[in-house]
Amino acid sequence: MLTFAIETSCDETSLALLRGEREVVASLVSSQIELHAAYGGVVPELAARRHLEQMNPLIEELFEGAGIGFDQVDVVGVTIGPGLVIALLVGLSAAKAFSFARGIPLVGVNHLEGHICANFLANPNLRPPLLAHIVSGGHTLLAKMIDHGRYELIGETLDDAVGEAFDKVGARLGLGYPGGPVIDELAKTGDPGAYPLPRAMAKTRDYNFSLSGVKTAVVNLVETERAKGTPVDISDLCASFQEAVFEVQIDKAIKAAREHRLERIVLAGGVSANSYLRRVYAKRAEREGIELFIPPLSLCTDNATMIASAAYYRHLAGDALDRSAAVDPNLRLPAGL
Ligand code: KG4
Ligand code: ZN
Repeated sequence: MLTFAIETSCDETSLALLRGEREVVASLVSSQIELHAAYGGVVPELAARRHLEQMNPLIEELFEGAGIGFDQVDVVGVTIGPGLVIALLVGLSAAKAFSFARGIPLVGVNHLEGHICANFLANPNLRPPLLAHIVSGGHTLLAKMIDHGRYELIGETLDDAVGEAFDKVGARLGLGYPGGPVIDELAKTGDPGAYPLPRAMAKTRDYNFSLSGVKTAVVNLVETERAKGTPVDISDLCASFQEAVFEVQIDKAIKAAREHRLERIVLAGGVSANSYLRRVYAKRAEREGIELFIPPLSLCTDNATMIASAAYYRHLAGDALDRSAAVDPNLRLPAGL
């Protein structure tokens, strides 16, 4: 079975061809980072226009590069949410046109489930049930994955997502957009114990998170030190910020896995590219006897290969969109009843 997938939920126009469960035939990711950097964040209308300009040339490039004809595709998968509504609409329109022209089924994919599926692409033996730990630019949550397409939410952020907090802190420190990868790099030479920062909600009995306090603490610290004329060591500050954020993330995920008797955790979303998180989480999970899966770097941030994987499982389960289907910018993970 050949799945053609389209992802346009945010600022990456991405296409992929996946054969069967995990043979990646071709994939393209066209990033718009340079387009949005000047604004310090993604401008939805610019993102949608760029998706529209890029869509047809990229489709041709994908199929020609792979030597695959349109007639060889069996199913089309597309991200229908969560994400930016006008960006999602470009992908869905293209996917509808393709499936209509070819007379093949169309499958709508939840972007978050796509991120989780990055782990199935890389690990042939991985099976649910498991604890999905999503840390992206728009979402931070813990969910029990009962099966493909069946989830039970365990906890989530009450304010900012982890990636969002990284990007906001990055912006305030003048590190450009997106701040996440820059903070990761700077923190490598910093001392995580240099600046004491709050571990918000570390001790609450639920599995929710709050990121806005630590973000504000970083901003206040910089302003206070500046007012005193004391230089701030940016590397130390980045390292301290990362440790404050990830300590709570890892602690709560491990606790949730224990309480729900889940032996596997899969990390997913753009922030799973963070080098400190990957290293510290792996060590901690090993010590706790929990199997941890982290996507390869190429599948951490937004890409259509993960969407193709999720579409493959959705199609096998008999899911299909009709031609009047719409996008849902606030789509939640499907509940597991
Ligand atoms: O999953 P993703 O590509 O888009 C969403 O679905 O939101 O995640 C993007 C987020 C951004 O906030 C970006 O700063 C963050 O992932 N990110 C990182 C790293 N690479 C990307 N955050 C921390 N460390 C990184 N190495
Ligand atoms: Zn994403």
